[in-house]
Amino acid sequence: MDFSNKQFPLLKNDRLLRAARGQEVDKVPVWVMRQAGRYLPEFQAVRAKHDFFTVCRTPELACEVTLQPLRRFEHLDASIIFSDILVIPQALGMTVEMHPGKGPVFPNPLQDVSEINNLKEEGAVSRLSYVGDAITLTRHKIEGKVPLIGFTGAPFTLMGYMIEGGGSKTMSKTKDWLEKYPKDVHRLLALLTRVIINYLVMQVESGAQLLQVFESSADHLTREQFIEFSTPYLKDIRSGVKNILNEKNIEQVPMTVFAKGGGHSLDIQADLGYETIGLDWTVDPIEARKIVGENITLQGNLDPQDLYKRPDEIKTLTIDMVKKFGKHRYIANLGHGITPQTPIESMTVFTESVHEAV
Ligand code: CP3
Repeated sequence: MDFSNKQFPLLKNDRLLRAARGQEVDKVPVWVMRQAGRYLPEFQAVRAKHDFFTVCRTPELACEVTLQPLRRFEHLDASIIFSDILVIPQALGMTVEMHPGKGPVFPNPLQDVSEINNLKEEGAVSRLSYVGDAITLTRHKIEGKVPLIGFTGAPFTLMGYMIEGGGSKTMSKTKDWLEKYPKDVHRLLALLTRVIINYLVMQVESGAQLLQVFESSADHLTREQFIEFSTPYLKDIRSGVKNILNEKNIEQVPMTVFAKGGGHSLDIQADLGYETIGLDWTVDPIEARKIVGENITLQGNLDPQDLYKRPDEIKTLTIDMVKKFGKHRYIANLGHGITPQTPIESMTVFTESVHEAV
């Protein structure tokens, strides 16, 4: 299949992009983190036949599961390309497996700082060309219905998985590295940052219309550690992508930073150059707006657990949330990914209620 044709269908619903740029919208745009996922039987049907990373690596399959939520939920205002943040460690030469019920597993995590030298930075982005192919194919198949979001994990979050060898409740090995080997940690974070910048530019060249950077493990960092180990790289990623797109004469796309658990540092996040800041559910919308000011879009932040409540309760909570954020510079979402047992009807009620709210 030829993925190179970039004459994409015209975008019919630009609410998400308008909100990210601070332009007026007719309705509040809504999408949901992990909207393509295990709560959907049609996703599970694909996963029953194909390994997780096979879906990521096969553009036709990645495109199919990306489109699945759009077929069910007419109120969704965006799609996010189906992939995973851990494709970057894979492209650097590490093995990552997805174990059902357990999540990602690295059979050989980084055990010693000397192993940073084994990571294969050269050619990493070309080894991720399948993500670009999936994006290009999806931009065609989506027929301009809604914009397509590209994404990456942020350097600290990726480093954590590479050291822990999977998800971790304590991040104790990673914290040990921060304490004992700060120089090597910064060397690794800088390496990841270089790869991430080029990876995101490749996604835009392939057709991504907005980019989200997931700093999902920020909840393990104090404000001081966040300032030392996360924000300098988040800032470099934003300016790096902007500069390269400028040099290559490619149209700029808005970017979102989502630091889960980073509610203690919204003032700092507001200075990183991102158009949108994603919030988890621990942050109060009115307080967040006071801190970041009027020139940044906020995204979030219903507790994913609320989708286990009754439809009428979900509706009330959603409308209440949208009222607190207001219609200007706001994108409705959950405060983290939708969870696997969520009833499908809850998604319908959530997305519908956002559009009804104002
Ligand atoms: O719909 C979308 O949002 C796009 C797809 C997407 C996935 N992962 C698919 C996925 C996105 C944006 C991600 C990002 C991701 N992956 C993050 C950052 C966002 C976040 O949730 O904080 C992280 C930390 C990962 C790493 C990862 N991948 C974990 C920890 C897990 C296991 C947890 C779980 O939910 O099982 C995954 C697996 C994963 N990534 C699944 C999906 C749909 C479920 C696995 C499966 O299908 O077997």
